[in-house]
Amino acid sequence: MLFRLIYTSRYVRGHRGPLSDFRGILKSSRRYNYSHHITGCLFFDKSSFLQILEGSALALDTLLERIQGDVRHIDFKVLMRSKVARRHFGVWAMGGAVRSAAHDEIFAKYGISDDFPDNLPEDAIVTFCEEILNLEEKRPVSRVLIG
Ligand SMILES: Cc1cc2nc3c(=O)[nH]c(=O)nc-3n(C[C@H](O)[C@H](O)[C@H](O)COP(=O)(O)O)c2cc1C
Repeated sequence: MLFRLIYTSRYVRGHRGPLSDFRGILKSSRRYNYSHHITGCLFFDKSSFLQILEGSALALDTLLERIQGDVRHIDFKVLMRSKVARRHFGVWAMGGAVRSAAHDEIFAKYGISDDFPDNLPEDAIVTFCEEILNLEEKRPVSRVLIG
């Protein structure tokens, strides 16, 4: 059975800096998630994270324990957890994007001014993230973050 979990959290800056931290998180996420059949996306605006995770209940619970103990973020807030029929992020072991001006149009379309969309319905958060990742794929400069 497949589940989807969506959460937000607040970034805690260490000595490495936000972009370097983000790249490091994506790198270990891709390795671990791929081998545990977890897919999803991680969106970062240099002060907060929004992550969508898809996988079995056991895989998600185990991963959450890893993630929740990570000192690079606090205020971990699960927005929703639900059973789903299929993966939306099947091609991404962990798609990643950092907020940029290129996303303004998508933010506006979903009526999001600044913060991540924790008050949107689940479907809207999912399509919002899909649109961001699809846009990133078309921007050569951000390729390194998509993977
Ligand atoms: C916002 C956030 C999201 C993360 N997402 C994942 C993830 O999806 N998969 C994963 O394995 N680690 C994720 N991590 C990293 C884990 O908390 C942990 O640092 C990492 O799994 C340890 O990997 P390593 O043993 O390769 O160093 C995330 C960390 C943060 C701060």
